[in-house]
Amino acid sequence: MNIVKKIYCRAFQTVLHLALPFLPYRNPVILRSTAEIPGVLREQGIDSVLIVTDASLSGLGMTEPLCGVLKEAGISYTVFDETVPNPTVKNVEDARALYLQNGCRGLIAFGGGSPIDCAKAVGARIARPKKPIAGMAGILKVCKRIPYLVAIPTTAGTGSETTVTAVITDGDTRHKFTVNDFPLIPRCAVLDPDNTKGLPPFMTATTGMDAMTHAVEAFIGGSTTKSTRADALRAARLIVDNLPRAYADGADMEARSAMSEAAHLAGRAFSKSYVGYCHAVAHTLGGKYNIPHGLANAVLLPYVLHAYGDTVYGKLKKMAVAVGIADQSTPAPVAANAFIEKLEQMNREMGIPTTLKGIRREDVPALARKAEREANPLYPVPRLMTAVELERFYYDVME
Ligand SMILES: NC(=O)c1ccc[n+]([C@@H]2O[C@H](COP(=O)([O-])OP(=O)(O)OC[C@H]3O[C@@H](n4cnc5c(N)ncnc54)[C@H](O)[C@@H]3O)[C@@H](O)[C@H]2O)c1
Ligand SMILES: [Fe+2]
Repeated sequence: MNIVKKIYCRAFQTVLHLALPFLPYRNPVILRSTAEIPGVLREQGIDSVLIVTDASLSGLGMTEPLCGVLKEAGISYTVFDETVPNPTVKNVEDARALYLQNGCRGLIAFGGGSPIDCAKAVGARIARPKKPIAGMAGILKVCKRIPYLVAIPTTAGTGSETTVTAVITDGDTRHKFTVNDFPLIPRCAVLDPDNTKGLPPFMTATTGMDAMTHAVEAFIGGSTTKSTRADALRAARLIVDNLPRAYADGADMEARSAMSEAAHLAGRAFSKSYVGYCHAVAHTLGGKYNIPHGLANAVLLPYVLHAYGDTVYGKLKKMAVAVGIADQSTPAPVAANAFIEKLEQMNREMGIPTTLKGIRREDVPALARKAEREANPLYPVPRLMTAVELERFYYDVME
């Protein structure tokens, strides 16, 4: 990367880092059960909500307990269950139309990152009716309070229930973009591991490795704070200890509960400290080929960490110590490599491949340019890379 661009990126990141203490970050109120939701809605004077979910979850009957408690409390609800994985602009517009038609006053997102992000984007569109959601891509473009949003995660991965981000895909161009602004942080999050109990093993593994990617990318970036470092290290430890257990036995509620906490902590960490090139590349793969987000990150992360080389040895050593595979006396390069090997071993043992199907060689330069535009100058990555340098990751994982 040329020196002028490098200076621009680092200056941009420094300004955002210095501004951190003055920005209106907040944490959602944490509830432990959907049964607590009517009380919270009543306090807000909300008597009609849109539930945003997806077809598999409603088909499995998973939204029924939620609908039951709302009905019993006399709160009317409309269900939008057409959210697709990697939710689209059309999903957002369809759900928004339903919200308006039914005079809804609040939003409940029930599902993985896809329904939660869709609900956030619906909120943004309600707040800014004249601005298309793609026009809010980037940072600080919502700028208005969105309707009250309760997020109920059913995966332990994205941490979207606590982040400033919504990730949406333009169904026509297959461009996946992020909208990042403070009003998008849900007001309330229900962390009930029972909702993740039915998540199949492979989905448990890949969404869990998404959470690991949040923890790692937040920790190794240049915009951390004492609290994001602590959250990221704790999340990594919980994931190393519990993800293999949740994968092996989905009914292991201690492991499920630890994973819900880990995903939440990792989300909180990256919401302030950002992600990095692994996510930027994963977003382009999710947009273009619909590759599941967690799978893309899980496969890419070891390659990206190797490419950062000695710039991340010190920080990865801290992660290795935190997860219990190195100690203070371990030389940094050895500990860093042990940490990357640990990720590779976890992937292997949970059936996650080292390559991804469907990437077309001729698409790579354009995808790498998109990833570069998402990441630079926003993500405070340990080592800046150009679009041409990012191309290697697509070739690395191409089957
Ligand atoms: N907003 C953020 O901060 C943030 C962070 C990371 C990723 N994301 C985005 O989130 C999306 C991915 O979300 P995700 O990984 O949670 O998956 P998802 O929401 O796309 O769900 C994937 C599949 O798992 C199923 N599923 C979810 N929970 C289940 C359960 N308990 N039992 C059975 N099936 C279940 C869903 O029906 C769906 O078919 C991507 O679009 C990604 O870009 C957002
Ligand atoms: Fe992610």
